[in-house]
Amino acid sequence: QGRPRVLSGIQPTSGSFHLGNYLGAVRQWVDLQESNDAFYMVVDLHAITVPQDPAVLRENARVSVAQLLGAGLDPERCTLFIQSHVPEHAQLAWVMNCLTGFGEAARMTQFKDKSAKQGNESTSVGLFTYPILQIADILLYQADAVPVGEDQRQHLELTRDLAERFNTRYRPTFTLPKPYILKATAKILDLQDPTAKMSKSASSAKGLVNLLDDPKVSAKKFKSAVTDTGTVVSYDEQEKPGVSNLLQIHSALSGQSIEQLVAHFEGRMYGALKTELAELFAEWVLPFQERTRGYLDDPAELDRVLAVGAEKARAVASETLATVYDRIGF
Ligand code: ADP
Ligand code: NA
Repeated sequence: QGRPRVLSGIQPTSGSFHLGNYLGAVRQWVDLQESNDAFYMVVDLHAITVPQDPAVLRENARVSVAQLLGAGLDPERCTLFIQSHVPEHAQLAWVMNCLTGFGEAARMTQFKDKSAKQGNESTSVGLFTYPILQIADILLYQADAVPVGEDQRQHLELTRDLAERFNTRYRPTFTLPKPYILKATAKILDLQDPTAKMSKSASSAKGLVNLLDDPKVSAKKFKSAVTDTGTVVSYDEQEKPGVSNLLQIHSALSGQSIEQLVAHFEGRMYGALKTELAELFAEWVLPFQERTRGYLDDPAELDRVLAVGAEKARAVASETLATVYDRIGF
């Protein structure tokens, strides 16, 4: 086809995406589907590395897909699917597990962080091998680039190491994927604690803007965002992280540059920025919610989209897996 292939995934762990998920990842996926052969998936296999309620997991996967569609992913322009619908992910993951050194896997800092929080006894082996499943996700589709946040860089390096190892041990089989680190500027901070990123698991309720909440609730959160004791709206990540975060969000939603915004708010105080931001967000989020609801209210159409996506994904994944099995001696 000639277009670079990209692949990315998002966990279905929350009913609603938050503003950080949207501006940091999903919105960029929407842009990337135009000039790339893009594969996007909701990674429910990854989600069960920690306990999940079955009914909630199933519902959250569908709500995630509906939000991706609501945000602008177009199943005609990209391949959108749920990971567990494509069994080749788990099959290739086993092969890659057997190619990975135990020590090599143990060096993954994200596992060290997460397992330290959970404690040894409640940490699953699945969480330990999570990066290997990620590697299978990527290599199955022969992805050229993987749009991810900076925190995933180490996993991408392991992906390249293992692809090279397989290619050397057997025969050239896998494309070596390049990281495509998503714009650092897209790091959205907690509205109540602008020293930390906005996060489903770590942010307080008031610090987290959920896309599916009533915009009135979100407006209150913008208006009570923590800033500083100054009065001048200006961009300074060190001294004014709260105001800078609000400017960052405004810029992302309005398309205006930070310089334009600083000029626009000259002589006005933080309240003006907060009020305008709340309105801007509502203008964007209402149509988003309507589109998302449209998919949730039409389960047959959502099923159809997911069936088409799984079929398109499996066409590629099954070919890669067949080649891999052949080279291994199966
Ligand atoms: P959370 O940290 O809330 O659990 P996830 O880890 O599920 O969110 O992230 C899903 C995607 O959203 C990832 O690509 C991640 O980089 C992006 N993301 C999450 N939080 C933010 C944020 N505060 N700012 C920018 N991007 C974010
Ligand atoms: Na996370």
